[in-house]
Amino acid sequence: MKNPLSALPYLAAFLLFVFAPLPAAAGERALNILYTGAIRGELEPCGCAPETQSGGLARLSGFINGEREGLEPFILVDAGNSLAEDTPQGRLKTEALIRSFGIIGYDAAAFFEVPDYAGPFLKETDLKAVSASKGLVRSVLIRRGQLKINISIDPKSHKKGMLNLLLTDKPVTEAASRGWDVVITSSGETTDGALKTDGAIVASGYPKGEKLGVLTLRLDDKGRVSVFDQRWQMLGKDVAEDGRVRRVLKEYDAKVAELTKEEEKKMELSGPWLGAASCIECHEPFFESWAATRHAKAFATLEKAGKSKDPECIVCHTTGYGKEGGFKNKTATPALAGVQCEVCHGPGKDHARGFSAPAGPVNETVCLKCHTKENSPEFDYELYREKIIH
Ligand code: HEC
Ligand code: HEC
Ligand code: HEC
Ligand code: HEC
Repeated sequence: MKNPLSALPYLAAFLLFVFAPLPAAAGERALNILYTGAIRGELEPCGCAPETQSGGLARLSGFINGEREGLEPFILVDAGNSLAEDTPQGRLKTEALIRSFGIIGYDAAAFFEVPDYAGPFLKETDLKAVSASKGLVRSVLIRRGQLKINISIDPKSHKKGMLNLLLTDKPVTEAASRGWDVVITSSGETTDGALKTDGAIVASGYPKGEKLGVLTLRLDDKGRVSVFDQRWQMLGKDVAEDGRVRRVLKEYDAKVAELTKEEEKKMELSGPWLGAASCIECHEPFFESWAATRHAKAFATLEKAGKSKDPECIVCHTTGYGKEGGFKNKTATPALAGVQCEVCHGPGKDHARGFSAPAGPVNETVCLKCHTKENSPEFDYELYREKIIH
């Protein structure tokens, strides 16, 4: 029989491995600060590149619920710049964002100035907003275990005997303030992690909520930060969504569809766009091979995603949207759904009538209107052109 003591080093290594990450040495405490900032109304990624796109409020919530035990003790904060722009659709986004924030359970979310229209949305949730706006508070005090935490947007409001966390929209280099242990900014900068300046640890929320920031602190028995570590948590398609947030996003889609209907009333129906069916007569082989490409199915893709009434999606998945006589909706302009011939070759009415009107040259610039870095990260003109030769 083997000497049982020979297993000891392995046992020790195993114990180290299991217990090293969180429960800290005697007197020490640990805290995870989960943070976002500069979400800018991005409720979720568009889904154009599902393999690589990360982020979205439903996944954020799903991740936290799924990993709660491993993350504890933790707090969740948003450093501001979370609202969408002030347009009719932007306001719907802001409403959905605030409702989702309420469900996700932020310990504090910064809204430096709450626009008037957004005030009522905030009132309907239990979200702990910190704000300079009338009727709202600038700081909140929370407890996590033994720890008292002061979270504020006011650079002067740090408190003795607590962990002080400042939420700001200042750039990282200007954000450091004396008296604060941690500063989270929503400046929209992409930084490599967290840095220590002027006594404070400064980190910046990832733009558009693409990743969740996780800042792990160890505090000594006097409550001072002794060690810290930062990492980015990806929120890819493998993260299970929170159904409650998904429901809010579905309601958002329905409201967008209503808004779109109103906008459509103003659209001109006649114009220079014909649709692929009108090209068959003279260019049948081209039609057949185009019909086999994903361009032909681009609108069906949106229908499947429940996004066929969202102008922010329709614009690249149909033909001539927003232009005179271009795509309006599937009932009024079924011939213009999907990425049709005329997206690349230009409107065809004059050409089909007299042949003479030159169809515009097709080059990479045409593709890049839709195949942007964000929507088509793998785009390579040569490779992609090969796939659509017709
Ligand atoms: C700027 C143009 C543009 C906008 C805006 C856009 N898309 Fe796309 N979408 C594309 C392109 C280009 C592709 C093909 C990407 C590729 O395969 O390289 C695509 C692909 C897709 C796919 C297929 C992904 C797959 O591989 O299965 C889905 C789903 C999709 N988009 C949904 C949406 C939704 C939903 C919106 C609105 C929130 C949207 N798109 C807005 C350009 C756009
Ligand atoms: C009534 C017949 C007819 C219809 C309909 C028609 N075309 Fe053509 N098309 C032609 C002819 C003929 C030419 C060749 C003209 C030339 O070489 O000058 C041509 C040439 C083209 C070319 C090549 C131009 C070039 O520079 O060589 C493109 C692209 C094109 N058509 C696209 C379309 C599209 C897109 C539609 C549908 C919106 C369409 N055509 C509808 C007859 C037609
Ligand atoms: C009006 C917007 C638009 C333009 C312009 C456009 N595309 Fe696309 N393209 C799309 C959309 C949307 C999809 C995704 C369709 C789907 O999957 O439903 C797509 C998909 C593709 C795909 C399939 C990708 C794959 O992985 O299979 C190729 C290839 C492609 N486009 C090539 C091109 C090329 C080359 C050009 C320029 C000559 C171009 N596209 C111009 C919107 C556009
Ligand atoms: C995603 C963009 C795109 C779409 C959609 C598209 N084409 Fe093209 N088409 C091209 C490109 C790129 C070429 C190659 C021409 C070039 O090099 O300029 C081409 C070539 C052609 C040519 C031959 C021109 C020549 O010089 O020989 C015809 C005709 C044509 N397309 C018709 C159509 C018709 C009809 C449809 C729809 C059924 C269609 N195309 C859809 C991009 C597109």
